Amino acid sequence: MMVSPNATEQSAIGARAEAMLLELGAISSEPNRLIRLFLSPEHRRAADLIAGWMKEAGMTVSEDALGTVRGYWRPQSATGKRRLLIGSHIDTVIDAGRYDGPLGVVAGILAVRHLVARGAALPFAIDVLAFGDEEGSRFRSTLASSSACAGIFDNASLAFPDRNGVTLAQAIEIYGKKVSDIPMAAYARDEAAGYVEVHIEQGPVLEAENCPLGVVTAIVGQSRMRVVVLGEAGHAGTVPMPMRHDALAGSAEIVLAVEHIAKSYCADNMVATVGRIEASPGATNVIPGRVGFSIDLRSATDAMRKAAIERIRNEAQRVAAARRLQVTFEPFHETVTTPCAPHLQELLAGAIADLGQRAVKLPSGAGHDAQIMARLCPAAMLFVRCRGGVSHNPAEYASPADIGLAAAALVRFIERFAETQT
Ligand code: GLV
Ligand code: MN
Ligand code: MN
Repeated sequence: MMVSPNATEQSAIGARAEAMLLELGAISSEPNRLIRLFLSPEHRRAADLIAGWMKEAGMTVSEDALGTVRGYWRPQSATGKRRLLIGSHIDTVIDAGRYDGPLGVVAGILAVRHLVARGAALPFAIDVLAFGDEEGSRFRSTLASSSACAGIFDNASLAFPDRNGVTLAQAIEIYGKKVSDIPMAAYARDEAAGYVEVHIEQGPVLEAENCPLGVVTAIVGQSRMRVVVLGEAGHAGTVPMPMRHDALAGSAEIVLAVEHIAKSYCADNMVATVGRIEASPGATNVIPGRVGFSIDLRSATDAMRKAAIERIRNEAQRVAAARRLQVTFEPFHETVTTPCAPHLQELLAGAIADLGQRAVKLPSGAGHDAQIMARLCPAAMLFVRCRGGVSHNPAEYASPADIGLAAAALVRFIERFAETQT
């Protein structure tokens, strides 16, 4: 029996999702912009709100050592210990939109709510997961929560400090959890039947194709690193230009080289971003003696990404030698390009077609929890059209109609997945 939502139900789900996203989007550490950092008081408030929605939908709720909220529903028809995992994240970037992450959590809750209300007879249980660290906005430990669930949490990240010097290990304890419980967050391999994540596209493809939903083919690999350039601080009025070792002027040259090198791989969809830079001592009348900046580099193939990093390193050394500076690279995050499971892609495409929509297949240039969960079990992603392709920006927007459709496609996907599991 098909139980997926009809058109009337879809629009009710879309309206409800929008109300939930507004409520969640109001939980911020600042009144005039959305900032919700991992293991912060705002994370706590958002987790409590989500736990309430999960319970109201018919799930039992628990939290693991990294604060991932887990809503569990086991239909009577379920056999064995297999679970379908549905997730996304509730942390945000600085000055975020309301949809990046929470959309997938809300869609998962509303899909399960619909299945529970219909008494869907599935042969497996479902966990809806609200992860707390996808953005890496507080610590460098990007994707720590899903890594714990996938059993690949890196203990080295426990020593990473936030901007105030609080380490991840300390923040976990302050949040009321125990570092020693992190291994217990991992799913057993035979327990996780699959992982699916709904997410706004964060790019312009679906809008240009005039299609509300897309199926992700692969999530691009990423390299993130910190670059430190050392020169010599000096008096801005007395040191002649040829005698300076200006770490910021040298960094500017390296930053432009990063841009230039990434552009030379545009056929490979390479993108590189320097999003953070600090100059020390940071005074108008002092030549900068030390600069630190970040590089975030992504491309569809791992080989091209590695080749580009090599070129950036060589170019940075050339600039440093010419200016008599020192430059060091500290890589802190590396993920490989992750293909989505072909059989789950097909089930998602079929679910979208069942709703009378054309399924566009597209890669993801953004990182997602799905790329980590793919290390545990087959993983797939459903993208939802967003206005103007805008994301990581308060103007981010997906329409209630598209979100309702996404929740309906998720329900239909779950039904199709159930057919493959009996
Ligand atoms: C996560 O949003 C990313 O930076 O890809
Ligand atoms: Mn995201
Ligand atoms: Mn994001």
